[in-house]
Amino acid sequence: MAHLQSLNTIHSSLPIPSKNNKGLFIKPHAVKISSCLVSDVTTKPITAANSTSVSNASKELMEADKSVMVGTYARTPVVLERGIGCKVYDLDGKEYLDMAAGIAVNSLGHADPDWLKAVNDQASTLAHVSNVFYSVPQVKLAQRLIECSFADRVFFSNSGTEANEAAIKFSRKYHRHGHPNSTNPPTEFIAFSNSFHGRTLGALALTSKEQYRAPFEPIMPGVTFVEYGNVEEVARLVKKGNVAAVFVEPLQGEGGIHSATKEFLSGLRSVCDDAVALLVFDEVQCGLGRTGHLWAHEAYGIYPDIMTLAKPLAGGLPIGVVLTTQKVASAINPGDHGSTFAGSPLVCNAALAVVNKINTPSFLSDVAKKGNHLKELLAKKLKGNTHVKEIRGAGLIVGIELDMPAAELVDACRENGVLVLTAGKGNVVRLVPPLVISMEELEFGAEVISNCLAAL
Ligand SMILES: Cc1ncc(COP(=O)(O)O)c(C=O)c1O
Repeated sequence: MAHLQSLNTIHSSLPIPSKNNKGLFIKPHAVKISSCLVSDVTTKPITAANSTSVSNASKELMEADKSVMVGTYARTPVVLERGIGCKVYDLDGKEYLDMAAGIAVNSLGHADPDWLKAVNDQASTLAHVSNVFYSVPQVKLAQRLIECSFADRVFFSNSGTEANEAAIKFSRKYHRHGHPNSTNPPTEFIAFSNSFHGRTLGALALTSKEQYRAPFEPIMPGVTFVEYGNVEEVARLVKKGNVAAVFVEPLQGEGGIHSATKEFLSGLRSVCDDAVALLVFDEVQCGLGRTGHLWAHEAYGIYPDIMTLAKPLAGGLPIGVVLTTQKVASAINPGDHGSTFAGSPLVCNAALAVVNKINTPSFLSDVAKKGNHLKELLAKKLKGNTHVKEIRGAGLIVGIELDMPAAELVDACRENGVLVLTAGKGNVVRLVPPLVISMEELEFGAEVISNCLAAL
């Protein structure tokens, strides 16, 4: 009751919007941008955007963003306007080499001609139908994903977190289905230190960073975190018989670019097999060619019961996928799960173009070669820099661990025309460029990173 009263107080203290003579709401904090209708320019400065390289047009847009968006993102003070290949351009025409690819999304770079054709053709034919109906691109994409993976069945969602959410539900349903008379089928999960599985309440519960989870508790109960690599502890927990699934990234991206060892993944496989727990590989970031293998787990020869995918699959359009075996899929019935948008013809046709391009031996071996080249370049150029603790990764997902916050280097690189990301506890620079990046572009990127780090 006290809680309700305080909410009411907050609501009644909010300004009540009024309408102008055109019937548009006038809101106290609305901001005008050049091509926008909304009134009342605010003059509040944006500190982060006050760098000399930020034009007035960009500053205006950033102000406008602040006045209309929920503040979930600590954005970089750049307004990106267009992209082609591995280059993106801001509102003022400044060029950047994109070594972030969104966040490991634009694997084919920007405006890839095959992807564009797939999107344009499908958009002008049929963009969306609900999952009440069949559609050709959805079935074709599912067939394609099954042909090139361990899986027998596919479920489409719209993002990585949704794919993991579906994997959580499927894992629980699988056990409930397998223990029809039990009042106590396994419902719990194991996840690992430095894991990242998403932001919805189930996937968030599997995500290790306390600061992401704590403000939203209670979240899904029954998750135990184990040190990444510690199979013995997983074995001890799984033996208790209440673990539905173990979620693991074969290569952790957000967590700081940590690769699993073969012993770890094969240990998890046999521990799960012994205890009849499911093994879920989250390849949302590391899958689909990023490591130089189509799936990151192929490097280990260890296969999961469920794999989740998302980021790069539709070349920048929203998609998520659960790939699984017939054994798991047979526990799922109509109505158990679903999504309005998922698996639309438009998104699936785009994804088909992406998979067709990435899943060729020459494309994948090029990624592996370019990844090795990038690591060699960095090792050479950063040699002797005392801030660098380690350069690691596989294929074109590479981390540079520093003895200092990575944000300063990320900012300096951006000022000098190269976009890179942070990871881990903020001390790792993450490089996840489009997989189509050229050797020359890698050389340029490594040079800028090294020069910027030397100047810090
Ligand atoms: C391994 C992994 N899983 C899940 C997610 C969540 O994906 P999304 O942001 O599409 O919900 C991410 C996002 O970074 C990720 O890296």
